[in-house]
Order: sequence, then C-alpha cells, then structure tokens
Amino acid sequence: MKKITLVIYAAALVLFFSCSKQGGDNNSTTTTVSSKEMDPRVKDLLAKMSIEEKIGQMTQVNLNVILVGGYGSKDGSIDPALLDTAIMKYKVGSILNAVPGAHTVQKWNSLIKEIQDKALTTPNKIPVLYGIDAIHGVTFTQESTLFPHNIAEAATRNIEIVKAGAKVTAKETRASGIRWNFDPVLDIARQPLWARFPETFGEDPYLITQMGVATITGYEEDGLNKVTAVASCMKHFIGYSNPASGKDRTPAYISEIQLREYYLPQFKAAVAAGASTVMINSGEINGIPVHSSKYLLTDVLRGELGFKGVIVSDWEDVIRLHTRHKIANTPKEAVRMAIEAGLDMSMVPHDYSFYTLLLQLVKEGTISEKRIDESVARILDLKYKTGLFDNAYGEEEAKKNFGLPEYKVLALEAAREAMTLLKNDSVKGAPVLPLSKTAKVLIAGPAASSVTALNGCWSYSWQGDDASRYPSSYKNIVQSITDKIGEKNVVSIAEPFYKNGEKYDAAALTAKARAVDYIILCLGENAYAETPGSIFDLTLDKNQLELAKAAIATNKPVILVLVEGRPRVIREIVGGMKGVLQAYWPGSQGGAAIADVLFGDYNPNGILPYSYPAYTGMVMTYDYKFSEIEEELIPGTFGMTGYRPQWPFGFGLSYTTFSYSNLKLGKDTIAGDDKLSVTVDVKNTGAKDGKVAVELYTKDLYASITPCQKRLRKFTKIALKAGESKTVSFELTKEDLAFVNADLKTVTEEGEFEVIIENQKVLFTYKK
Ligand code: BGC
Repeated sequence: MKKITLVIYAAALVLFFSCSKQGGDNNSTTTTVSSKEMDPRVKDLLAKMSIEEKIGQMTQVNLNVILVGGYGSKDGSIDPALLDTAIMKYKVGSILNAVPGAHTVQKWNSLIKEIQDKALTTPNKIPVLYGIDAIHGVTFTQESTLFPHNIAEAATRNIEIVKAGAKVTAKETRASGIRWNFDPVLDIARQPLWARFPETFGEDPYLITQMGVATITGYEEDGLNKVTAVASCMKHFIGYSNPASGKDRTPAYISEIQLREYYLPQFKAAVAAGASTVMINSGEINGIPVHSSKYLLTDVLRGELGFKGVIVSDWEDVIRLHTRHKIANTPKEAVRMAIEAGLDMSMVPHDYSFYTLLLQLVKEGTISEKRIDESVARILDLKYKTGLFDNAYGEEEAKKNFGLPEYKVLALEAAREAMTLLKNDSVKGAPVLPLSKTAKVLIAGPAASSVTALNGCWSYSWQGDDASRYPSSYKNIVQSITDKIGEKNVVSIAEPFYKNGEKYDAAALTAKARAVDYIILCLGENAYAETPGSIFDLTLDKNQLELAKAAIATNKPVILVLVEGRPRVIREIVGGMKGVLQAYWPGSQGGAAIADVLFGDYNPNGILPYSYPAYTGMVMTYDYKFSEIEEELIPGTFGMTGYRPQWPFGFGLSYTTFSYSNLKLGKDTIAGDDKLSVTVDVKNTGAKDGKVAVELYTKDLYASITPCQKRLRKFTKIALKAGESKTVSFELTKEDLAFVNADLKTVTEEGEFEVIIENQKVLFTYKK
C-alpha cells in the first residue's frame, strides 16, 4: 500500500515539475548576470578572489556566533577571537540579527565598526553586509519609531502613508549602521490561524501589491548608496502563508494556478519596483521545500520575473532540507540542492557548515566555480550599490536622521488611519461612538494596560512581548485615554498581562462598572511572532469571552476594542457590544489613536484588509467562487450559505456617511489595449468631515476557469468635508481583468464584466 502511494506521489511530483516547466507566462531561463551586464568593479574583484573567499561571501551567520557568551551575551560585546574565526577563517560575507536584543544607535554603530574593521583587513577588503529585521519600524534599535503592523497599514488603504513610514524605517535602520532590511512581507493572508497573518497586507493580491511596492519604493527609491535608503528584501518567496494546518512552517498544498493567481503577482510587481533581495519560504509546497526548488527559484523567480538580485535563505533552511524536510539524506546533499536550486546566500546561521560543505562540493567538482561566481557577483554588486566599499561604517549623516519628532506624528497618523470601526449601535437614540469627553469610563481587559499588545511582534525583540525593553515614553490604552479625558473620568482594572488559562476578575469589573457610564473592553492578542504564535483555535480564548459576557451583563454600554494580530472569532459577544473598534497591532502611537477615535478627535476611516470570520468552520475570502455559496441541505433543495463573515473584506464605518452615484464608464466595450475610464461621485452626506476609501471591484461573468465573485482592482482614499462631493476616477485595462488560465498563462478572455463601486454597478464588454 505504502509503495503504491509512493509511486503515485512520485508520479505527481514528476507531473508537477514537467507541467510547471512548460507552464508560466515566460519560459526564459536567463538566470545569470552576463559579464557584459556585470559592474566592472565586481568583475575585477571576483577575478582576484579565492574560492574560499567566494564561498564565505555566500555565508551569513547570526550575531551570537561572534559574541562573548553567544546567545547568553549580556551586552552584545564582540569576542575578538570569534570575530577572527568568522571573518578571517570562514570569510563570512554577511551577519544578521540582534543579540541579546535591541541596541542603541551608538552601540549598533560601534558593533558595525568592530566588524568592518576586521573585514577591511582581509586580502580584498570586502565589507560585511549586515542584515536585520526592521519590521514595522526598526525592531532592534532602542527608541526607534514603531509603526502599525502591515495588516493595519493595509487597512489605511493609503499608499502614501505606507511609503512615508517605510522611508522613516530606512532612515532609522541606516542610522543604526545597517543597510539591508529583511522586509517587506509579501505573503498573502488567506489562513487566519497562521501566526504571521499580522505581518501581511491582508487577503488580496492587489492590495498586497500596492502596499508592498510602496514599502519597497520607500526603502530604496533614494538610491541604495544614500543615507536615507536600505536594500529591501521581499519575502517569503513563495506560498508560505497558507499552511494546511495553519501552523507556521508546515506544508502547504497550492495548485499551480492558485500559486500564480494569488501568490506570485506581488513578487512580480516587487521585482519590477526594484526590490534588491528576496528571502525564501521555509515551508514546502506540494511536497517540495521551496529552498530546493529550481523551478521556483530559478525558472520562475529569475527566468519569468527577471529577478537579478540576491536570493537569501530563511533561518537554517538549508540545513533543514536534511533535518526537517528529509529530502536530503546528508547535510552536504542539502547544500547541493539549495545551490542548484538557485540560492545565493545561506542564513546558516549558527555554524560554518554551509561554508565547509559548499567548499567540498566545489573542490570535488559537484558544483562549478562558475555557479559560485554567479551568486558572489550578485552579493558583491549589492555591497557596491549600498556604498559599503566607499564607507563600510555607520555614516555620520545617517545618524542625524534618527528619532526626529515628525516620525511620531507620522506613526500616529498611520495608526489613526488604520483604526477600523466595525460596529456603532445606538444608545438612547444616537450612535454610541464617539463618546463624550465628560463621560465616565471603565477600561478593562488584558490589552488595556499593555504596550506589548499594541505593538505586537518584532518590537524591540523578536516576540515583542517583553515590556521592559520598550521606551518608557510608550503609552498603553488606559494612559492614553486618561491623557484625553482626565483621571477623574477613568476607572480601570487593567489586567497586567494576558493570563494564561487564568480567569480575569469579572467580579471587580461588575463592581466597578456601577460608577461609570460606559465600559471600554480591550481584548485580543498579546504580541507573538512565528511558531510561538501558533494557535489551536481561532476563537478568542474562553477567559476573555467570559470577561466580555460579564461586561455585557452589567447593562452598561460596552465598547469592544480589539487589539489583535489576526481576527479571532468573537461571534458570541459581538451582539452584546454597542461598539466595536478594530485596532489591530497599531504600534507606538496606537494608544493615542484609539483614544482619538473613541472620543471623537479623529473620524475613523480604516477598512478591513481581510474577511473577519464569524465561525471557525467558515473561513472564506471575499473573492470566493460562485459555487462556494451554494449548499445542498436536503437532496434537491439548495440553500445559500457560504460567505457569512462577521464583517466582510473592505468593511469599516465612519462617524459620517457617504453616498455613491453616477458610476460611469468611458465606453461600454473595450478592445485590445484600450483603456476604460471609470468615474463615480462620492458625497459626504453626514455632518462630519471624513476620509473614505473608495474601492473598485470587477466581476467576470463567465470565464474558462471558474471566476471569482468579484476582485479588487483599484482603490484610493479621499477626504470630504461635510456635504462635499468629489468625482473619483479610475482607469482599467485588460490587465486588470486578467486571470491565470488552465495553461498557466495570464489572459483576459472576451466577455462581459461588471464594475462595482459600493452599491453602484455597470456592465461592459471586453473584445480582443
Ligand atoms: C523569519 C524571517 C526573518 C529571519 C531573520 C526567520 O525566522 O522567518 O522572516 O527575516 O528569521 O530574523
């Protein structure tokens, strides 16, 4: 039985590869930088380098490897003997990460100096390229500016604010002496159990593409040799975000059509936008670990997408081809597979095994030196581009760009724009929110007094859950609301932390609620990152739900503030809430932004970047297939079930109202490369000024691959004064109507399409 399964499996793999190789939009296999294209400086340097130096360049180790005490380091002091081993013996080209945690700007600059001092004594004086995760701000530099996480940035639907935030992150990274940032995450959030959901820009590839390109542009557009830029790293190529089990780094099963429709476009756009580097998905797709896939790394990424930059592995993933994925029967075989697949640099990260084994593979003739030269050329090219050969040290000019007051203003603006109002029911004839500043409020729940929950993962540490590492100036929700309405109006039973398995103090809540007008209940998730963030149940934990029920039972109006990285199922308490505000992980200014929205100093305009599930058994995205909403209840009788989220993708309320009218198309038929102009009038029909995200969807009525119910094609954000109207214009082309067909080609088929903007719909025809 086992044998038969194996045979079928092997046949399936062969089929996957052979189909894959024939498929795609472009089968070019141009994967190497031709010597004509190569920077002459790179060419000259390569010619002088020994094979050992070259392989060293492809080796990236973690900082702990050179520190006194390794991971146990108290202060990040470098051990000169270990540094010597790394640079002189193993000739490592790159170091990453922060141990024991976030450092000051000064400390970073002195660390970098020590490393580069040593690197510049090597025969060819090749500087080290330091890489770091500066996710939603400079994670590992003390006092850096932390922005909302990507999931919240996506809710803003404001590309400019995302780009501006990325620029600040680039400046503060560079001020720390570092020129390579492992960001942005371009993974797509279609599996809410997955712990890295908050690091994504949501469930839609167009939204991710817009936000991802804005981030990359923000990091790189000034020019990598400038003190305001860093090299970006799009990640994690490809198919990481949808593991079947929902657990991090576990197998995904994704058809080639789906892969190309939902996972590839954002990387394609990122390559076109000039992303300098890419990091590979640690997981496996259809049984093939991505780090071993020549098809994905070389044929698709280099050949089809034309990516010329550096491909770096993720954490220990070459080793794991042997230890975890079990496709390589020795560590050496694992190195061979990854190199032959197309990897340029291995984040080893704790030893020099990659160096030793790759050197053996070259010496015994399994891997050619020519192949090594291709990777090394890319790495050296990046080192030249980032200006490291001109000045390998932290730049004085760069340091001046750290911690400027306007960065905080921007972080606040981004957090405000992310705030997504999900419910605002009437209390005594008027919407409960905004609250009056003279109202008395009880603030409760584990997120109420937690700065870690506001900032989430990658905040001064990997997990972000260590409050002692945060700047003392950071304010939690209780402090931010107290700043706004005064101590006399605030009662709190701020639970100090998320209690694992323990009940919250419902009795205290009930008692204290007697003296107040409203309860602001702050629930959700504390910070987590990657595997430690894996959960077994999407439903919010029972103890928080119990606390919510106690709050509802007081009969005081309860406003639920959700502080969470991913949407946790809360169906059983939503009905009892008068107001619900989704704050996501809003970053350093999150407390202030929440207070601004709750008390009316800011009119919310964020909209959901995902479908918020109501049931754990009904997790669907907005772009479901028509047949997904039909279910046979009794044979012969059909009932419509299906897309019933708690709140749909794109949902978000305002303190004002907007109306849409006059959706018009420039023509009713377009042919070939024609452009189709679309206009719609949007009016602020309420009494308050406000911003609104206008989204354009299309629906393909019939197609050769079952079409989606609708797809997001454009969006913009506009500000309208009370009573004001604006005409919003978009332009569609055939590319906006395209999909991946059975031959794995991106095509636009003739037929009828619908343009949908809010409640407005118009049909048009596309002809070839
Ligand atoms: C993560 C990457 C990150 C890397 C380096 C890995 O565990 O998957 O996203 O860039 O560590 O810190």
